[in-house]
Amino acid sequence: MTTPAKYLFKPPPQFSKRARISSFAEYQRLYEESIRKPSQFWAREAGELLWEKRWKKVLDWKPPFAQWFIGGKINVAENCLDRHLNGPRKNKAAILWEGEPGEKRTLTYQQLHRQVCLFSNVLKRNGVKKGHRVLIYMPLIPEAVIAMLACARIGAVHSVIFGGFSAASIQERLADSKAKIIVTADGGYRRGQIIPLKRNVDHALQGSHSVRRVIVFRRNYADIPIHEGRDVWWHREMEAVQAECPAEPLDSEHPLFILYTSGSTGKPKGILHTTGGYLTGVYSTTKYIFDLREEDVYWCTADVGWIAGHSYVVYGPLSNGATCLMYEGAPNWPEPDRFWKMIAEYGVTILYTAPTAIRSFIKWGDHWPARHDLSSLRLLGTVGEPINPEAWRWYHHHIGGDRCPIMDTWWQTETGAILISPLPGATPLKPGTATFPFFGIDAAIVDDEGREVLDGTEGKLVLRQPWPSMLRTIYEDKKRYKKQYWSEVKGCYFTGDGAHRDPEGYFWISGRIDDVLNVAGHRLGSAEVESALIAHPSVAEAAVVGRPDELKGQGIVAFVTVRTGIPTTPALRKELREYVAQQIGSIAKPDEVRFTEALPKTRSGKIMRRLLKEIATSGQVTGDITTLEDFNVLTQLIPEE
Ligand code: PRX
Repeated sequence: MTTPAKYLFKPPPQFSKRARISSFAEYQRLYEESIRKPSQFWAREAGELLWEKRWKKVLDWKPPFAQWFIGGKINVAENCLDRHLNGPRKNKAAILWEGEPGEKRTLTYQQLHRQVCLFSNVLKRNGVKKGHRVLIYMPLIPEAVIAMLACARIGAVHSVIFGGFSAASIQERLADSKAKIIVTADGGYRRGQIIPLKRNVDHALQGSHSVRRVIVFRRNYADIPIHEGRDVWWHREMEAVQAECPAEPLDSEHPLFILYTSGSTGKPKGILHTTGGYLTGVYSTTKYIFDLREEDVYWCTADVGWIAGHSYVVYGPLSNGATCLMYEGAPNWPEPDRFWKMIAEYGVTILYTAPTAIRSFIKWGDHWPARHDLSSLRLLGTVGEPINPEAWRWYHHHIGGDRCPIMDTWWQTETGAILISPLPGATPLKPGTATFPFFGIDAAIVDDEGREVLDGTEGKLVLRQPWPSMLRTIYEDKKRYKKQYWSEVKGCYFTGDGAHRDPEGYFWISGRIDDVLNVAGHRLGSAEVESALIAHPSVAEAAVVGRPDELKGQGIVAFVTVRTGIPTTPALRKELREYVAQQIGSIAKPDEVRFTEALPKTRSGKIMRRLLKEIATSGQVTGDITTLEDFNVLTQLIPEE
């Protein structure tokens, strides 16, 4: 059955007329061509970037290890900055920034370039060399971007840690990356509160570690201790260096960054991205999917601590020479119309945000956006989780004024760039589907045996061919990389997501089918939260599952058994929730802690999460329980009517 035309949101004709890809037939033709000859497509895209030395071979594929643009030399910062300085973009705003308390700053490409060169020299002055890892733990301020680009300029490998993560999370990432330098700020602002970033760094650095230097940006004059010999002030260092810093020509496969993300074990994985292929992927997708124009004011609301911030706040838009808006704080500070006020004030044309934010906007009320002139917007985007059709429709009507196409973009930390998404001038939209694969992306849906399923049947979403912005490995753990992504379905990259295709070939992604939770668009491993709980002295065992949550997409429910003799009081429940927040960060705080005498396990001792998920969601169990070891456990877990 095909979708009746009245339920499709066709690209507005005026939009298509100006767009790079202006009809669905054109998309299909180019897509087929790109799948037949992916190297040709990607070489064309890469050719639009500035290479110090052109590559000899586009792809070397020894599954599961790919190398792209072999022999090529390129610098990402040069492509994001220097390349734009020879023409009118020189004095164009690269970053329009607003702090939560309301300060405003503009950095032109020329100014941003200068700051990046200065900070590159600061890094060098503090002993950072090509290949060294640099941890960045900052608020969403221009200096976070400056620090990232400075690393890219000299060939250091950045690892940005989201400012909402705890000292323990910093410690864990430090132990894995063995970074010698941390770049941080005294504090950041969130909902009127100061986030004590430097204090968290100090806590993380108690005990032994690899860090030699902490560079501290002064954001809010918080009263913080300075450790002589270890800590230096950003502003002082910047005064001590020259603004000359040539970009280092780097091998296309030189590591650009490590970004830690949650998987199915207790320990986050360091996803490693490299230079030439990554830049080609984010450059090309930003150009086509947002159909960027010179005059756009582009706003991706993600924090640079997440992959969306790396690819679509920093590298994708800046390599395209765009003007990017950045906002430090919460969307409802001081009132729930902060975003709409900023869109009107800056004349934002493209807004890229998360379904969880959209659901909050709906809850806060239509009158907040209605107060502001949002007519500058021409394109909307979402990312992070499936968007429910009601939220899609609300976004389309109340924010997009029924005229802006919505790009529902599917991708992952591992994929580096958007892989499944509509193209705004070409794809007829249906609320709730990310539609079709991007050029060169061979996506398929398969069953447990790896056979492609029929349209309409749910299966595993896989990718059958490598793509330039794919992760290259898990940092220092090739074995885990192979096992995690390339062993589930033979010859394919397994995404961890379930999906089906409708009769018209649209991809509908339902979300994770592994033990990864998606809370407010943020990824968390069940095992990671469980490890945090088990570390508490009162806890004997814990199992963590997700349950549907109206605002956050998924909420966290923890089933906990306590050690003998420990009373299961409301105070302990509260303490455990706080404890997880301390161990990981407040995004991981369970919504509910349920005490239980035992956990349902299979005869081989595996916790039956599926049962717990059902209990957490509906209070009932309907699925197969034949492998359950002790039926009594189940009866205790199900609340009485
Ligand atoms: O489950 C998918 C969901 O987010 C996961 C990736 O999370 P992360 O690596 O943190 O990256 C998020 C931002 C790129 C995916 O495995 N996801 C992301 N976008 C969508 C989505 N699910 C459905 N539709 C989307 N558009």
